[in-house]
Amino acid sequence: MEWKETLSRYIDLTNEALSTYTDIENGENQQVINAMQYSLFAGGKRLRPVLTLAAAEMLGGSAKMALPYACALEMIHTYSLIHDDLPAMDDDDFRRGKPTNHIVYGDGMAILAGDGLLNLAYEIMLDDATKQPNPKPCLKAAHTIAVAAGIHGMIGGQSADLMNEGQSKQEEPSADTLAYIHEHKTGALLAAALTAGAYVAGATEKEAEAMKSAGFALGLAFQIQDDLLDLEGDAEEMGKPVGSDLKNEKMTYPAIYGVEASHEKVRALTDGALGIFEGFGSSSAFLQSLATYLISRRS
Ligand code: IPE
Ligand code: IPE
Ligand code: MG
Ligand code: MG
Ligand code: MG
Repeated sequence: MEWKETLSRYIDLTNEALSTYTDIENGENQQVINAMQYSLFAGGKRLRPVLTLAAAEMLGGSAKMALPYACALEMIHTYSLIHDDLPAMDDDDFRRGKPTNHIVYGDGMAILAGDGLLNLAYEIMLDDATKQPNPKPCLKAAHTIAVAAGIHGMIGGQSADLMNEGQSKQEEPSADTLAYIHEHKTGALLAAALTAGAYVAGATEKEAEAMKSAGFALGLAFQIQDDLLDLEGDAEEMGKPVGSDLKNEKMTYPAIYGVEASHEKVRALTDGALGIFEGFGSSSAFLQSLATYLISRRS
């Protein structure tokens, strides 16, 4: 399977660059750097950086030019997981097959490790952009990521997720609220991953818009699957607990629409993303294979 070799190449490139970026000389700040490295190298799937590198190559750019933005996304994603697991949020003890950051380093250091990863992401993107003779495409990529990570994106979704805990048992839970939560807490970063890769490669606005739409469809499908895996998955395979959503009475797709309708929604959303990728012709072969593979993911 040729596409899996490409997947390994993207993951290796990401891991090497993440190691370089976090190989930081430290002194009194050693503990926060240790805590950042702990979660960053605990074994994530690297989906967001893979999407960025693939989008850049699909649109005629190189994976190398997209690497700072790919790594920034993985840092922001990892920070969101560290904070998501805190006792004040989902209160989970396992992540990426290991005890969660706050279990190992304590709540205070986990908060700082998340903040540190978030800030380092911007340091890396701005450093790269300022080195470009024409920084505009890179600045557009960085801006896209900033918007997707913030109150208009992931943080907005996480806020609504928290505000609606306990609402899954409502008689008429709001479909709009559920869609808002999933599209923002997860869809936004996946959409930004594809869009940022496209921008760095010099894509037109039309191409970037198409990648954004594909990313939102894939992102919503990804979060619905995450909800399904929280019910039907295997904790060991996933590296994180099952039943976290029930424990916290989260508003999820299976809780509101049922398991079968949720599986159907995943397939329909994936078909939508595949249709967009097909519009880019044979250069989208990798993204098509990846999207198809994700339908049956178990972790
Ligand atoms: C977990 O994301 C949180 C969600 C948005 C569902 P991933 O499933 O991509 O987690 P890692 O990066 O592989 O640990
Ligand atoms: C979290 O959604 C999405 C983030 C932005 C971190 P979940 O709370 O469902 O993610 P998991 O299941 O803990 O990975
Ligand atoms: Mg959560
Ligand atoms: Mg969680
Ligand atoms: Mg979940």
